[in-house]
Amino acid sequence: MSRLAIADPPYPPQLAERRDRVDGPLRITTRSRARRWYGDGTRPADETPADFHPAAGEWDDPARHRALLEQLHDEFDGWAIATSPDGLEVYRPLPLSCRVMAWIKPNSIPGGHRLKSTWEPVIVRVPESRQNRRGGQVNDTLIAGTPYGRRFAGAKPDAWTHWVLDALGYDPDEDSVVDMFPGSGAVTAAISRMPIPIDQL
Ligand SMILES: C[S@@+](CC[C@H](N)C(=O)[O-])C[C@H]1O[C@@H](n2cnc3c(N)ncnc32)[C@H](O)[C@@H]1O
Repeated sequence: MSRLAIADPPYPPQLAERRDRVDGPLRITTRSRARRWYGDGTRPADETPADFHPAAGEWDDPARHRALLEQLHDEFDGWAIATSPDGLEVYRPLPLSCRVMAWIKPNSIPGGHRLKSTWEPVIVRVPESRQNRRGGQVNDTLIAGTPYGRRFAGAKPDAWTHWVLDALGYDPDEDSVVDMFPGSGAVTAAISRMPIPIDQL
């Protein structure tokens, strides 16, 4: 039996370099993702937040993310944290037993940068007794579209949850799983719909 957790917190803020004048100095700007999508932050007029949490702004602090990782490592046998590619930095250094998986999103919306962002990392700590390949192997990449139709920014597709559970070696008859940031409820719902785990095929 393993105690498992899936954490999908608001992502850390987006940092960028800007020049106010073409020949001016570079300055660093910070844009809160947590308050934009889940709090009282500024956002474009045509954008609505996914939901509201009064303490969403705490996720603008890198130390809060690190504290989450340490809490999960202390309290659970296996766990996963969803984040953004730039967000990985706030969690480092990762415990040696962690791996980083890549969710590739073919339908991601273009941003303003030349490089279109099409993936999101998941930091995974597989329970110690399941880290070898005896029970089968799970790819550390997943290609699955973002469920934009669900209208909740950050909602995960079922395939994402099932991939993460497979990575953790989830056994529905033995394990408990805590969905730390339920949001739309998509992850909790997908846990209850888990197909036969890879280890039992
Ligand atoms: C990325 S979303 C989770 C999405 C969810 N996994 C899904 O599939 O729908 C993050 C969630 O964390 C909530 N949240 C924000 N600040 C929080 C806080 N300080 N404590 C707990 N939850 C918070 C947000 O309101 C939002 O529901």
